[in-house]
Amino acid sequence: MAEPLIYDGEFVARLTENAGLAPFSGGIFVPTMGGLHEGHLELVRAAKSLGRPVVVSVFVNPDQFNDQDDFEGYPRRFDVDAGLAESAGADVVWCPAQQDIYPVEVEVPTPELPSVATRPGLEDAHRPGHFAGVARVVQRLFDLVQPEVAVFGEKDWQQLQLVQAIVDRDGGPRIHAVPTSREPDGLARSSRNERLSDVSRPKARAVYLALQAAAAANHPSTAEKMMQETLESHGLEVEYAVVRSSTGLRPVDDFSRPSRALVAAWLDGVRLIDNLSMPVWT
Ligand code: PAF
Repeated sequence: MAEPLIYDGEFVARLTENAGLAPFSGGIFVPTMGGLHEGHLELVRAAKSLGRPVVVSVFVNPDQFNDQDDFEGYPRRFDVDAGLAESAGADVVWCPAQQDIYPVEVEVPTPELPSVATRPGLEDAHRPGHFAGVARVVQRLFDLVQPEVAVFGEKDWQQLQLVQAIVDRDGGPRIHAVPTSREPDGLARSSRNERLSDVSRPKARAVYLALQAAAAANHPSTAEKMMQETLESHGLEVEYAVVRSSTGLRPVDDFSRPSRALVAAWLDGVRLIDNLSMPVWT
């Protein structure tokens, strides 16, 4: 892993004081953009269960938003987030300023994107520039925190594959993936769910229904058709509803290898994404 480009003094002082570490290498890291909900807290609890000090970062990364309204509407309540993270077991909650992450005097590079972040035609196609922003901030955060393990949720499946591919190529922390946290009706927990109106919220369960229908299909093309129909019949506008290989996110002809159904759909001006592992047929 690259040397830290800059090591913010206050940050190191707080890490040392709170976590008893200097520097914070060997800890468990949970990067977030805040707006913490139960899903994030499950990540923090999973991190804590690994038995090492846990640092949670809260940074709304402007670089990864391809939609200005989405960036401006993103929840920012750092005090609440810090309290929640601490209650779930965080030893350090780090809310860096823009200058800590992207100091004007330092060129913060963007890692070369692996093919899983440029070719599948999923988030890469629908959110241009998003993964360059994610890769850049994640690498920067890893450089500053120097964790032994970094925890990511499976909900952002393509992001998870991107981060895994970068550390496989360039080195970095071990990536610990945590299954998607869901509401009782199956809706994947997301900071954006709170933008759904009372009328549209019940329709949002169609995303999980679609994924479950896909898991019951006997062929990927049938699974894709069923997902499309389920989403449309509940009034969602589909961006993609596909079955792909689990790690490379390539098209698949059958269910003989690990695969994943992945969905992105709009409801009431809110973009919902989710994914589910498909059964392997032997
Ligand atoms: O998954 C997220 O919340 C963000 O993409 C991450 C990894 C914190 C980078 O800003």
